[in-house]
Amino acid sequence: EAADKGGWSSFMAKEITEQPDAVGNTIRGRVVDGAVEIPELTELGDDRLREIDRIIIIACGTASYAGMIGAYAIEQWARIPVEVQLSHEFRYRDPILTDGTLLISVSQSGETMDTLMAVKYAIERGVTTVSVCNTQSATIPRESDAAVYTHAGPEVAVASTKAFVAQITALYLIGLHLGRVRGTLAADAQASAVAALDALPAQVAEAVDTHEQIAQLAHWMADTRSVLFLGRHVGYPTALEGALKLKEIAYIHAEGFAAGELKHGPIALIDHGQPVFVLVPSPRTAPVMHSKVVSNIQEIRARGARVIAIVEKGDTSVLPYADDVIRIPLTDTLFEPLLQVIPLQWFALELSTAKGLDVDQPRNLAKSVTVE
Ligand code: G6P
Repeated sequence: EAADKGGWSSFMAKEITEQPDAVGNTIRGRVVDGAVEIPELTELGDDRLREIDRIIIIACGTASYAGMIGAYAIEQWARIPVEVQLSHEFRYRDPILTDGTLLISVSQSGETMDTLMAVKYAIERGVTTVSVCNTQSATIPRESDAAVYTHAGPEVAVASTKAFVAQITALYLIGLHLGRVRGTLAADAQASAVAALDALPAQVAEAVDTHEQIAQLAHWMADTRSVLFLGRHVGYPTALEGALKLKEIAYIHAEGFAAGELKHGPIALIDHGQPVFVLVPSPRTAPVMHSKVVSNIQEIRARGARVIAIVEKGDTSVLPYADDVIRIPLTDTLFEPLLQVIPLQWFALELSTAKGLDVDQPRNLAKSVTVE
């Protein structure tokens, strides 16, 4: 078994390091002459894609956070309203489904019963369904009208890592494909997104290199009982994912918040020494969001928080207020989650390890939940 782990102490550690390939393999073959083209979507017919007036993304757990992140990109590029619903909530609200509705399911295993039941419900009502899935020929992609596979390779650790970044990547490709077909994607937006995709595998590899710094941090924080995560825009679901990882494998109470929501309640939790990870948007591509997040950092710091800031390289604005600064490569705002989440994955893994827990097989959880 040690061999399967490629010399790493856990499958999760190995899978975190495989993320450059997970992203690269998911993109491969889907960018042609500077434009994104997903053959499985082309097969649905461009007319059908042009008629979509609403997208519902359904998923559970980590896949739902990938869905939330994907929603920002699809809306921006394809100008279609996107909502994200948890699979197990979807059917019970008597959802409004019309001819123009596209349902995109996101599932690593393709066997999650909650998601499968939601997909079947949509199919019965004549809705077009697209499956984003990491497992070839699993039930959900087989049932769906089209399958856009992520190519992360088999994921063994219960806590999802490489499948998550591959899911975000696939949803971005879907957004770029839809935007091109529908004529909503400007040439410069397409060019910069394709350039960001090109650069991604190498940048993900750089983010993986934060391991040693994070291991140190986790070592000092081994007794931590609660950790908060703050982010804005795409940083918000990234914060939710950072918190989920910590709950799943380190059994630590953790919560993710939208940074702007802080003043509406969660700031009451901030006490002396409370660790808070803050995902700081780029000051170049999102200057307004950046300055708002920097003020959030000042507010929590003034109340005694221990701030761990994840910033883009060269951003020195938080240095006076952050206890620790983790640097990620420069990319566009939408692509930041693919880099920011990696130190959060390492943090959960290292804290779990420091507590002597089984990183790959956390208590009470299953890799694939095939019951409702
Ligand atoms: C389980 C796993 C989670 C995963 C979720 C969705 O709860 O423990 O890690 O995110 O299922 O799984 P899926 O295979 O549908 O992506």
